[in-house]
Amino acid sequence: MVILGIDTSCDDTSSAVVADGRRILSSVVSSQTDIHRKYGGIVPELASRRHIEMIWPVVTEALETARVPLDSLDALAVCHGPGLIGSLLVGCNFAKAVGYARKLPLVGVNHLEGHMFSAFLEEEPPEFPFLSLIVSGGHTSLYLVHAFGSYTELGRTRDDAAGEAYDKVAKLLGLGYPGGPLIDRLAKSGNPGAFNFPRAYVPESFDFSFSGLKTAVRSVIQGAGLPAAGQTPPEETSLVRDIAASFQASVVDVLVRKVEWAIVGKGIRRVVLSGGVSANGELRKRMKEMAEEREVELFLPSPALCTDNAAMIAAAGHHRFLAGERAGLDLNPKAYLPL
Ligand code: KG4
Ligand code: ZN
Repeated sequence: MVILGIDTSCDDTSSAVVADGRRILSSVVSSQTDIHRKYGGIVPELASRRHIEMIWPVVTEALETARVPLDSLDALAVCHGPGLIGSLLVGCNFAKAVGYARKLPLVGVNHLEGHMFSAFLEEEPPEFPFLSLIVSGGHTSLYLVHAFGSYTELGRTRDDAAGEAYDKVAKLLGLGYPGGPLIDRLAKSGNPGAFNFPRAYVPESFDFSFSGLKTAVRSVIQGAGLPAAGQTPPEETSLVRDIAASFQASVVDVLVRKVEWAIVGKGIRRVVLSGGVSANGELRKRMKEMAEEREVELFLPSPALCTDNAAMIAAAGHHRFLAGERAGLDLNPKAYLPL
């Protein structure tokens, strides 16, 4: 069973060919970072336009690399939400057109379900049930995954997503976009104890909150006075490295603690991380330490599978296809699409 996955939910145009929901034959991601960097964040209209330019070359490259002609595919799987509506429209309409023209069955996949099942593309996939922490630029959610298609949401962010907080703090520090990898790198040479930023544990709930942290970082920056633009590059300033490390320590503390509470409270012995922030070095290290201490199995997809990709869409699409799901030409993208 060979499925072509397509994801255009945000600012990456991606396509992948996956066999049996497990084996990646190709995975192509065309990043738009260079287009959005100068704006310090994603400009939705520019993202949609770039998807239109890139969708056909990216899909062609995915098919050619996999050496799978279009007509040999068993199905197409496309992400239909949640995400930026203009971006989603490009992938959905492309998939519907190709499916119709080549008589290929189509399945719609929720982007979060894709992230959740990225770990199934690794050599040793998790067994059910497991706790799934999805930490990305748009989401921070904790799910209890009973089986494929059967999920209980334990908690979600009440304001900013963790990745969004990374991106906003990086912008405040004058570091550029996307902020996550930049802060990840800088924090390694900073002092995580330099500033005692708040940890919003949101008592009696598995919910998250990161907007207070962002505000606390902003007031430290305003009080400290960073070098003006054009002077010392921010990454060479020890104050910036200390703020980055202290901010990251706060985010990681909360994420690790919440997962630990869920392990204890729900009695689940497997944890799966996914989403762009799960590529973070400190988060991976601290989660591993906690998992060892609690004697639970931890599944950390490789960094390329943590960030947006279409292999995860094909993997989740494989299960939906096997369950008999088929999308019609009325498949419409949704900016808000709960799991
Ligand atoms: O999963 P993803 O590629 O797209 C969404 O679905 O949002 O996640 C992108 C987010 C961005 O906010 C980016 O700054 C963050 O993931 N990110 C990281 C790292 N790599 C990407 N955050 C922290 N550390 C990283 N190494
Ligand atoms: Zn994502």
